Amino acid sequence: MSDAKQDSTTKAGEDLAMSLIRLPQLVKIHQPNNKIFVETLGVFRAALETLWAGNDTLSARIHRGRMYINERRLSPNQTLSVTITKLMEFLEARKFFGFRFLKVDSLQDEAIVEFIRDVNQCLSQPEPASWLAARLEGGWASPIIDKDFKISIVMAQDGSGKARPIIWNAGIRTLAMKARKSYSRALSVIAGLNDKLSDGQPVNISKPRRVVQDMVEGLFQNENLLLSLSTIRDYDDYTCTHSVNVAILSMCLGKRIGLGKIQIMTLGLAALFHDLGKVDVPIELIRKTSKFTQEEYEVVKNHPLYSVIRILRINSEHTLKSKLLIPPYEHHLGVDLSGYPPSDRTSSLTLYGRIVAISDHYDALTSSRSYRPVPISPEQALDIMLQVSGTQLDPLLMKVFVNMIGIYPVGTLLLLDSHEVGIVSETPAGADQGRPMCFVLDFDDGGLKRGELVDLTEKDMGGRFRRNILRCFHPSEFGLNPSDLLLQTA
Ligand SMILES: [Fe+2]
Ligand SMILES: [Fe+2]
Repeated sequence: MSDAKQDSTTKAGEDLAMSLIRLPQLVKIHQPNNKIFVETLGVFRAALETLWAGNDTLSARIHRGRMYINERRLSPNQTLSVTITKLMEFLEARKFFGFRFLKVDSLQDEAIVEFIRDVNQCLSQPEPASWLAARLEGGWASPIIDKDFKISIVMAQDGSGKARPIIWNAGIRTLAMKARKSYSRALSVIAGLNDKLSDGQPVNISKPRRVVQDMVEGLFQNENLLLSLSTIRDYDDYTCTHSVNVAILSMCLGKRIGLGKIQIMTLGLAALFHDLGKVDVPIELIRKTSKFTQEEYEVVKNHPLYSVIRILRINSEHTLKSKLLIPPYEHHLGVDLSGYPPSDRTSSLTLYGRIVAISDHYDALTSSRSYRPVPISPEQALDIMLQVSGTQLDPLLMKVFVNMIGIYPVGTLLLLDSHEVGIVSETPAGADQGRPMCFVLDFDDGGLKRGELVDLTEKDMGGRFRRNILRCFHPSEFGLNPSDLLLQTA
């Protein structure tokens, strides 16, 4: 985080804390139109808006005498420590540890006043924290009742009902739940679509459209969250997971280059359908662990055409369908048109086709496959892709994609100059790509444990970075699985 941003976050955090302490007192003695009350309400609202910028949820909590906004510690200063002491007393009286505020577009004064009254009323309840949590459930504000930072583990179900864990820190749990639902729905929609098409049953575009629409909404709320879902790997259900991941990566890339929601939706649908034709390739070939013979390869190379044929059988408006056919047809063609299916065309690939090709390449390389049980690391995958940038992949879009994935993708192990080892949890959008957030790993009973969440942009009093990266490794180099480490509960 830049110094200026850190300062504005600290100031807004402090304003938020002070107004939170004052409003419950003021509401007791003043009418809502009282000048001081209105001013304090304004400070509270302005602080929320500053802290919401770039985030969809906001958590403000005290932990071991320090104040954290969205799980990042505010840099200490004299006035902040006074505010923290007051906020601690305020929270201790109510027996919870902070607040979580969900971003809302137009937050009415009445809603804030109602929330403040509830915050007062909980004091007279035998269990203030759980009373307030129940009272505010489903609303824009809620008390934080877990003492420690917790990683939420949410289970996603795929089309066959199998559950797999997805992790998210508590601060973005609500959004994570929504994103998880979209992901599992997308998996079941694509699996259902395949089954119906195989049985010759009519298939409507409405379900896939709804699921992609949900994901687009999620993308505009929290890009990082959706992007991280794309790291889900399911070896048994490779084609479905791959299709959803390619859709997510394509939509994220589309957003990065400034496409609008409608365009991203079309792109997402086309990406979701890009490998529909794989079902028409004999399963023995899909599962083959050795190299294809020339004849076998010729069969596999037909799958983009099979995808087109399957898409043609989906009931949809013609204008939309015509847009959905092209990227699946083009995704293995290459920007130099030397790929497959063989084509005499001279016109260049469409934008959506180029985007889907990049996402497809990346997800295929970073997934375990029958012929490659250990996946290639994200860095290696990007390296491999950069070698075919300009021939198979669009060089300009590749630059944007590399930037999007980050220099240190989620799950990368970092050797730090503080003699610590970290595992990357995220690189916030707009933050220094070379200084991600990571969990420090502790060695405990001979095993690795996930420790404190640290921000590598954090500086000490002298303005020097607290931690610097010496080297990075992919966990698979040590036979480790990043999700095993990221999923550990504290
Ligand atoms: Fe493909
Ligand atoms: Fe694919």
